[in-house]
Amino acid sequence: MSKVLVLYYSSYGHIEAMAAAVAEGAREAGARVDIKRVPELVSDKVARDSHYKLDQAAPVAKIDDLASYDAIIIGAGTRFGRLSSQMANFLDQAGGLWMRGALHGKVGGAFTSSATQHGGQETTLFSIITNLLHFGMVVVGLDYGHAGQMTLDEITGGSPYGATTITGGDGSRMPSANELVGARYQGRKVAEVANKLHGWMPSMPKTRVYRWGREHRHQYPGELRGRCVRHSDRRRRAPWGAAAQGATDVLAGALKSLSSIPKRDG
Ligand SMILES: Cc1cc2nc3c(=O)[nH]c(=O)nc-3n(C[C@H](O)[C@H](O)[C@H](O)COP(=O)(O)O)c2cc1C
Repeated sequence: MSKVLVLYYSSYGHIEAMAAAVAEGAREAGARVDIKRVPELVSDKVARDSHYKLDQAAPVAKIDDLASYDAIIIGAGTRFGRLSSQMANFLDQAGGLWMRGALHGKVGGAFTSSATQHGGQETTLFSIITNLLHFGMVVVGLDYGHAGQMTLDEITGGSPYGATTITGGDGSRMPSANELVGARYQGRKVAEVANKLHGWMPSMPKTRVYRWGREHRHQYPGELRGRCVRHSDRRRRAPWGAAAQGATDVLAGALKSLSSIPKRDG
């Protein structure tokens, strides 16, 4: 199973609701999912006076949290056609992670909301996706398997670039059933790709490996990345049978191809 972070900023609760649906979809794919939000930048007084939704259960993320997930799905409402400054400010702190290539090869996705249908949803999604690509991430959108994005029977969000919702000018419209289906669909798709790239696949046996030459424990391929397990060590010391060793070899091959994703020079 892969580890997925749904990271969001929400002033009025629309993106918070979408984040819950995205997380639900990722869990359906068997991922371990955390929902976190980024810090607020406006003062408490401004937030209260502006009727922000202050009771949000999600813990506040720290930038280094990002490195410990296989997939990160980012949601933020439109601000003049691009992502909110709260989310941009948070991501701007990822310089250290970027330098280390710590996010290379992770899976990413974007979702958003706007007051009006054509108020900048796609440009906002791309402003998030641009960040994800600079981080070296593999982007998963909202494919047309979510056919609800094509309906003309109702006003609806949803685009191939990511799940969306439309709030109305006064913010009174919460995500519709169709939009939440889209959000769940995208969460599931991101997690499925992350499972394939980084996680344990239900059809594969768990394998036992040595770590630090002594310890036995069950591990998933995603957890092996960057650790000290050396293939030759496993072959020499592994006390289990040839079948288990074969499975380990398959995993080692998969890991080798993953680790061949180039890191930043230096
Ligand atoms: C400063 C500001 C700029 C905004 N710009 C746009 C915009 O360009 N287009 C639009 O449709 N909605 C715009 N909105 C509306 C927000 O996108 C909307 O309130 C938000 O998506 C609601 O999501 P939330 O409840 O999760 O914060 C803007 C809102 C604010 C406060």
